[in-house]
Amino acid sequence: MHSPAAQQLSLPKNKIRILLLEGISQTAVDYLNEQGYGEVTLLKKALEGEALKEALKGVHMVGIRSRTQLTRDVIQSADRLMAIGCFCIGTNQVDLNAARMAAIPVFNAPYSNTRSVAELVMGEVVMLLRRIPSRSQQCHNGGWNKSADNAWEVRGKTIGIVGYGSIGSQLSVLAEAFGLRVIYYDTVPCLPHGNAVAVSSLHELLGQSDIVTLHVPQTPETNNLIGEAEIRAMKPNSILINNARGNVVDVDALAAALKDGHLMGAAVDVFPVEPKSAQEKFVTPLQGLENVLLTPHIGGSTIEAQERIGVEVARKFVDYSDVGSTLGAVNFPEVQLAERPGGMRFMHVHVNRPGTMRQINDIFAKAACNVTAQFLQTDGEIGYVVVEAEAHADQDKAKVEQTVLEQLRNLEGTLRTRLIRAVASRG
Ligand SMILES: NC(=O)c1ccc[n+]([C@@H]2O[C@H](COP(=O)([O-])OP(=O)(O)OC[C@H]3O[C@@H](n4cnc5c(N)ncnc54)[C@H](O)[C@@H]3O)[C@@H](O)[C@H]2O)c1
Repeated sequence: MHSPAAQQLSLPKNKIRILLLEGISQTAVDYLNEQGYGEVTLLKKALEGEALKEALKGVHMVGIRSRTQLTRDVIQSADRLMAIGCFCIGTNQVDLNAARMAAIPVFNAPYSNTRSVAELVMGEVVMLLRRIPSRSQQCHNGGWNKSADNAWEVRGKTIGIVGYGSIGSQLSVLAEAFGLRVIYYDTVPCLPHGNAVAVSSLHELLGQSDIVTLHVPQTPETNNLIGEAEIRAMKPNSILINNARGNVVDVDALAAALKDGHLMGAAVDVFPVEPKSAQEKFVTPLQGLENVLLTPHIGGSTIEAQERIGVEVARKFVDYSDVGSTLGAVNFPEVQLAERPGGMRFMHVHVNRPGTMRQINDIFAKAACNVTAQFLQTDGEIGYVVVEAEAHADQDKAKVEQTVLEQLRNLEGTLRTRLIRAVASRG
């Protein structure tokens, strides 16, 4: 099995063509340039169909956001593609399996917008406790309601964080600085930050919290995690915030609890059904309800997050291209590698079948070069092995490299072979 890309040899950095679509942050271009990658094209728009296929000709790495669809057809028509970067969190715009079987790792930036979400939650807590949505609306309409009824300070209240991962734990620190008592519930044991206290069940958290905020991933277990029973288990006059994923909350049950006054307010950024574009009308049972903040899935959308995403994914491109590291790939065996001071480093991606490693080792044995390290990861369907080797002093190094590459490339089941040359230390 030989993809066109399997024919590719290691290229000097200035020959590696990188195409960035959809107005990816300039920080990505700057980082790539700093690392010696000068052939970077940045386009503002998304591409599709034939225009996308045409633009990908001769491109080694492509960066997209959520609009560009990298289907099986597009991936298979790309003649040089060796890495895909999703400069966002989601990767379902890419056919991950087609990319994997073409030996193309797909990278994304899952943690660059942690802070943005945590800050938004804090803003929402203040706004909802002070009933700002309706107060602001009244002022816009010429009203002047100065009443302190049902307007509260944040200090001294209890916030219950469901999911104490990147965002939940960052929020914990901010919340405590605001004077909130922090409790949290996670399915795995997590070290508390500051004075936060773990509780042993979701229902315990719901019964104690004045504000419940959700920071769990989208999984079958979190589908409708907060349904009718959970909402009714929340304290009367409490607040629910969902900036996680739309299917985590039963929005009909939430709307009912807001209408009958069981809950004081809610902030919701993510919905079970979200418009695919700005042209599509957005509909939710939460529209028009008092003390409800609705936002269009913008929890992580800030300039700073975009800048960080630019660097985070560009760095993954460089790590893969310079040293062969696939750490952070979402569809590929993950191999973490350090920079290599000297010698030869070969990478080989193959269909995972018994006997391949023996054949690879035979190639190095026959070439009489000394294998100094070997890194192997498999994911069921494919295997990714990186072999470091040194030629003997009396051997012609270039010839050894060429021979080994040739033989690796000809191995049955090979998806990609590459020689990674030594790189100068990177900053
Ligand atoms: N609104 C936005 O724009 C936006 C931006 C970024 C992230 N998010 C979403 O925020 C959520 C959290 O992101 P993160 O980066 O903190 O993820 P993370 O993986 O770092 O943390 C998630 C935590 O949830 C825990 N968890 C999983 N299932 C659970 C359950 N049933 N009950 C309790 N805890 C559970 C995990 O153990 C983990 O600690 C994700 O759904 C992510 O998609 C939304």
